[in-house]
Amino acid sequence: MADRLAVEGGSPIRRTPLPYARHTIDDDDVAAVVSALRGDWLTTGPRVEVFERGVASAAGARHAVGVSSGTAALHAAVFAAGIGEGDEVITSALTFVASSNAILYRGGVPVFADICPDTLQIDPAAIEGKLTSRTRALLPVDFAGQPCDLDAIVEIARAKELVVIEDAAHAFGAEYRGRPIGSIADLTTFSFHPAKVITTAEGGVVTTGVDDLAARLRRFRNHGFESDFRQRAVTGDVYSPMVDLGLNYRLTDVQCALGLSQLTKLADFLRRRGEIAERYLKELTDLPGVTLPAVASDVRHAWHIFPVLLDLDHLVADRHTVLRALRAENIGASVHYVPAYWHPYYEALGYRRGLCPRAEATFERLLTLPLFPAMSDADVDDVVGGVRKVLGRYRR
Ligand SMILES: Cc1ncc(COP(=O)(O)O)c(C=O)c1O
Repeated sequence: MADRLAVEGGSPIRRTPLPYARHTIDDDDVAAVVSALRGDWLTTGPRVEVFERGVASAAGARHAVGVSSGTAALHAAVFAAGIGEGDEVITSALTFVASSNAILYRGGVPVFADICPDTLQIDPAAIEGKLTSRTRALLPVDFAGQPCDLDAIVEIARAKELVVIEDAAHAFGAEYRGRPIGSIADLTTFSFHPAKVITTAEGGVVTTGVDDLAARLRRFRNHGFESDFRQRAVTGDVYSPMVDLGLNYRLTDVQCALGLSQLTKLADFLRRRGEIAERYLKELTDLPGVTLPAVASDVRHAWHIFPVLLDLDHLVADRHTVLRALRAENIGASVHYVPAYWHPYYEALGYRRGLCPRAEATFERLLTLPLFPAMSDADVDDVVGGVRKVLGRYRR
């Protein structure tokens, strides 16, 4: 009975649970944080600027503004873009709620565009179909770490004078047609949550090439003050005029110490993520019952997550059953994402199911498999073996 599923009383394919994501922290990271804790600065200190310069360099951007999370980065970017009451912003139907919530924070109206069913990225043709006279910005998402079709999206934006805010929470280190993500859109937001490519525990950054947008971002993260304490130390001013209604979205020196240490490993993290993804692509490609999302030939994927699509017509189980069975095998499968507008809060705002049929049909089939740099080859074998075992049991 070696092949009996763990969920049906058999032995799991591995003894210990494998999460879908996990940060990679080594002794250098710990030493960097300890050194920051022993220094003079806990919150905004010299490491913030150094970290921002490091991120700007990795992202090929003129400016990088550190903030307290990827969500704060989106909020700050939507603010900097000048989105206000009633302004429509088009975003992907297949994203984390933070993308569309940021539009709501400013009184804007999230308009959801459907995805390309093969790449799972926002479909530029669907964006065109959602443009109205009230559209002010496009907020595409680099789902899973694969850049969306930025040239097509930027072309639509330029023709209609719209701002492009790219939610690249998943895509730090990715490239689109040879250009680093963070150097293309008017504003690009990153997240450094522990599941992401590098981490500052919580944290985020907005990159931009526009000086004025960078100044607005810097004010927004610091209560809307025109100058910060460093500038006041030079001018001798006793207070700074508050010119915008900002927040405290500052990133701390302690977090930036961790971020700087993580940045030195970015290339290694990306390489290992890519290796694991390659193994999955090779081993799962011809497996009946599952389809792998397409990867465009002209991108460098950051492989934040590895999504697969179940071929439900070929299975006697639904996604939930497959997910439960994988988890019983100690394979920490997950789901990214339920369409944002299916959440009760959005329903109460009047959004209805059926809005983006391709994203909705995709959601019913989606599974995320474990992928993080510290996974061993044996862990990858377990995932592949677990998927084969579970799908073998539920195949028609
Ligand atoms: C697409 C997307 N945007 C934004 C965020 C928000 O980032 P954070 O968790 O750092 O606030 C996330 C987080 O998972 C995300 O997946």
